[in-house]
Amino acid sequence: MYFLGISGGVLSGNQDGAAALIHNGEIIAAAEEERLIQIKHASGLLPKNAIRFCLKQAGISIRDVASVTFPGATYKNFNEILHDYFDFTFGYSPPIVLEDHHLCHAASTYYLWTREPALILTMDYSGDGTSTFAAVGENLDIRELYRISKPNSLGVFYSILTQYLGYQKDSDEYKVMGLASYGKPTLDFSEVLHIHGEKYQLNPAHLKSAVSPGLPAPSKQEKIYVGNLSLPQPARLSGEPVTEYHMNVAASGQKSLETMVLHLVERLVKKTGIRRLCLAGGVSLNCSMNQKIRESSLVDDFFVPPHVSDAGLAIGGALLQSVKNNIAPKPLNHAYLGPEYRNEEIRQVLDDCHLNYEFLENIEARVAEDLARGMIIGWFQGRMEFGPRALGNRSILADPRDESMKDKINRLVKFREEYRPFTPSVLEEKQADYFKGVIVSPYMTITFDVIESKKRIIPAVTHVDGTARIQSVNPVTNPRYHKLISEFEKITGVPVVLNTSLNVMGQPITCEPRSALQTYFSSGLDGLALGNFYLKKNP
Ligand SMILES: [Fe+2]
Repeated sequence: MYFLGISGGVLSGNQDGAAALIHNGEIIAAAEEERLIQIKHASGLLPKNAIRFCLKQAGISIRDVASVTFPGATYKNFNEILHDYFDFTFGYSPPIVLEDHHLCHAASTYYLWTREPALILTMDYSGDGTSTFAAVGENLDIRELYRISKPNSLGVFYSILTQYLGYQKDSDEYKVMGLASYGKPTLDFSEVLHIHGEKYQLNPAHLKSAVSPGLPAPSKQEKIYVGNLSLPQPARLSGEPVTEYHMNVAASGQKSLETMVLHLVERLVKKTGIRRLCLAGGVSLNCSMNQKIRESSLVDDFFVPPHVSDAGLAIGGALLQSVKNNIAPKPLNHAYLGPEYRNEEIRQVLDDCHLNYEFLENIEARVAEDLARGMIIGWFQGRMEFGPRALGNRSILADPRDESMKDKINRLVKFREEYRPFTPSVLEEKQADYFKGVIVSPYMTITFDVIESKKRIIPAVTHVDGTARIQSVNPVTNPRYHKLISEFEKITGVPVVLNTSLNVMGQPITCEPRSALQTYFSSGLDGLALGNFYLKKNP
C-alpha cells in the first residue's frame, strides 16, 4: 500500500510544503516544494510538484495511493478543500486523512528510529494550537504525556528574539543561534520565559494578540511582541551594526531556551524512567541546544532526524497511516530521498547550453585534488537530500584547513555575512579523531566540540566557541561522497571537507542541473561536478 503525506498549505503561516510517499513501511520518495519551484519556503502553497515527483519516482498513479495525510486536525473544512484540490490538480482524490500536527512531528522522528521505549519531545512555533508535545513511544504506540498550547511556545520565544535582533522570524533563527556563541548570557529573560511546574510559561504581556490562540499567524515581518521587553536598548533594525550588546542578547536568549528544554527533559526522564530521547519540530533545528541535551547526563541515547521542520510532517503523516494499517515503518538510513539525474540527462543539459566539460570516471580524485589546491567546488550527485541541510549531494565543498575560506565563500559564493562557520563532513570512521562524543551524526542536527589539538587543523569549520555541526559520512549510504573525502585525506592527511549547501543567499538549495549551473555561473565557484561531468572556469 502506498501512503502519501503532504505538508504546507494555503493558510496564513503555512510554509515548507513537502510530499512523502511510504510503501511497505519505507520512504520511497520525499521532496520539498521549495526546491522544485526554487522559491524559498514555498509559503502558502500545497506541494503539487513534490507530489508529482513522488508518484513518478514510484512509477504509480494517484489512483494507487491509499490515502493522503495532511497535518491539520483542527483545520475547518480542510478535508473537502483537499479533496477538491486533488480532484482539480490530479483528476482524482484518494481518501484524505487529517492528523494532529504534533503527532505527525512525533511519528516523523520516533518511527524512523527505534521500537524501544523512548521519550518523544516535539517543539515548534505552533501547529494545531500546540507548541510543545511530550509522549512515550513504545513498539508502534505513541502515548501522549502532555501538550503545551500557544501562546506558551519556545518557538514564539525564539522568534521574538529573532525579530528583536533585526532578523526575520521563521527564517533567520539560525543566525541568532550562531550569534549567541559570540556573546555572554548577561541578561535575565526570566520575566519573559520561566519554568512553571514540569513545563514552562511565556509571559503573555509581551505578546501581540495575533500570537493568541485562534487568531491567524502573523506574517514573517509583522512584530509578534508589543515592545515592552524591559531590555536596556531598543530593538535592532535590519542592516544596523551588530554590537556586543546584540551578541549578549542572543547568548542570554539561547541560554533561556536551553534551560527550559533541559528542564522539560529532566522532568520527563524523572516521570518515566526512560533515558532515550528523540526530537522533532522547528525548535530542534537548534543544534547548540541539541548538543547541551546530548552532553547532559539526562539521556543515554538521542536522535534528531534531518527533517524536523514542517516539511517532515509529510513523512510523519504518511507513517501514521502505515502504522494504522499494521505496516511497521523501517528505520531511516539516509536522507537522499529526492530527485536524481542520470549522466545522460546531465550531458543533454550541458550540450544544450553549449558548455565545455570533461567526463571523468574517477571524478572524486580530481575534485579532491582541486579542493586541496584551494578551489571552491559545487558537488551535484545522486538523489537530492530531504530536510534543510545539504549532505553531500547538493553541496559546495572547500578545504577546511584554510582559515580564510569561510570569508572567501561568504564573499564570492554565498553573498552573505554569517555567524556560524561552515560544516565539516567527516569520514564516519575517523570522526572520533577530530570531534568529542561517540554518537554518529549523519544529519548535521547536533554540534560537537572539536578536539583541542585539531582546532588549528580545521579552522574553517570550527566555530568561535570550539564546536562544529558535523556530518558523519558513511561509506554505504553515500559511497561517492565517502570516496571523495577519502581521496582528500590521501592528499592532505585530513579526513574532513568543508560542506555548505549548493545555493546563493535567499535561494533554496539546488534541485536539478540547470539550477546548479545558475548557481555556478552567478557566483565565484571555481568548478562544478555534476555526476561524472566536471566544469571549471579556469582549467
Ligand atoms: Fe511544526
